[in-house]
Amino acid sequence: MRVLTIGGGGRECAAVDAFHRAGSDVYAVMKNSNPGIIEKAKKYLLADEKDIAKICRFAKENIIELAFVGPEAPLEAGVVDALEREGVPCASPTKAAARIETSKSFMRELVRKHKVDGNLEYASFDNPADTEAYLRTVDHEIVVKPVGLTGGKGVKVQGEHIHTMKDIMGYVNEIFENNIGGAGVIIEEKAVGEEFTQMAFCDGKTVAPMPLVQDHKRAYEGDVGPNTGGMGSYSDADHLLPFVGVEDRRKALEIMKQIVSAMSEEGCPYRGVMYGQFMLTKSGPKIIEINARFGDPEAMNVLPILEDNFEKICWDMAKGTLSGAVRFANKATVCKYVVPRGYGTKPEAGHRISVDMDGVKRSGAEAFYSNVDMKDGVLVTGTSRAVGVVGIDYSLEGADWNCETALSFVESDAIFVRHDIGTRDLVQRRVDHMREILGK
Ligand code: AMP
Ligand code: GLY
Repeated sequence: MRVLTIGGGGRECAAVDAFHRAGSDVYAVMKNSNPGIIEKAKKYLLADEKDIAKICRFAKENIIELAFVGPEAPLEAGVVDALEREGVPCASPTKAAARIETSKSFMRELVRKHKVDGNLEYASFDNPADTEAYLRTVDHEIVVKPVGLTGGKGVKVQGEHIHTMKDIMGYVNEIFENNIGGAGVIIEEKAVGEEFTQMAFCDGKTVAPMPLVQDHKRAYEGDVGPNTGGMGSYSDADHLLPFVGVEDRRKALEIMKQIVSAMSEEGCPYRGVMYGQFMLTKSGPKIIEINARFGDPEAMNVLPILEDNFEKICWDMAKGTLSGAVRFANKATVCKYVVPRGYGTKPEAGHRISVDMDGVKRSGAEAFYSNVDMKDGVLVTGTSRAVGVVGIDYSLEGADWNCETALSFVESDAIFVRHDIGTRDLVQRRVDHMREILGK
């Protein structure tokens, strides 16, 4: 089948790889020259991923039969609606359905209205004075978020990034003054626990889960430093996590099923990958955010161990014919992102980077190019995450070892990696933290 993919990051590189394995002819649109995508695509177009007119023209010229969108920005711009008007089936949500991610107040209101489990207390505001008046009435710790999209970097958590009322209002004022996210402020109750990601394939009614993954947002080892788009992630061979059992997973999945039903009831059925980010608290999983796409890096954990045909799954999502179970290998994965020096604060772009892909493959791992570009025939880093390296094995320890071996095939003098992701020590800290929260 002739498949259009949109996006040029690590997540899309993994998706293109999965389409390639499924036998698809890939036609890719991306803003940067991603060598991993270029290698597997029949044809590609370098363009703004929100340039709907160009994307539709490319789809028409190449007689595209199915489209898949990686990042949130083109979803928000309405690329799916435009492609569907041209008769191209899409395995991604429409602009209206993508509001589950693009508007944090839409998500919380939907969840409240439909009495979905796992909601947190929240209130959203369009001015600083009302925000302050509300803050004076709450007696729990809070989190401040811009309502709109900020690439995962706009959230400030009380007790971590902000402490006093002065800090909180300082950030609230900054959001309004600089119009960060473009749609006001949401104040949420702070959930305390361990975070995990449950992603699922959805076709408007059926929800087929993927293995659980844990991402690491903080820039530096030991979980310190600024929040980032995600420095790396791991998944376990049993598709659970060492601190999330079957029952908590069932509850998280149930929340996602309730959201998918609620979206249909609202006349805005959800088709595509849904990403649920949960905090496992002492009273069960709570919704941190819902995204309208694969997580990045989480896509790189699950797609390499996908056993069913990705093209068929996407077709079924687009057509409403998804089966409730999709098969993944019982293997653990550890993904570590190689990022440019300064990432998280002041990333340095434009440094040469090279990956010995044969070496990576020989070690049984995978490497997915992300925010890199070709400049004068040389592969260079951008300001965001450069290459996702994924170790795969029967245990987390084996997968970590495999990832570290593969990392030795990446060369640049201006990069860093969080080597602690997926290690026994860090995973044990999560387990201990969860035990402490549960009082066990
Ligand atoms: P988000 O961009 O919404 O994923 O938020 C980024 C990070 O902020 C999350 O990964 C959490 O660690 C933290 N966070 C967001 N919302 C909350 C919340 N309500 N309670 C506690 N932590 C949160
Ligand atoms: N890994 C976080 C995200 O994709 O939003």
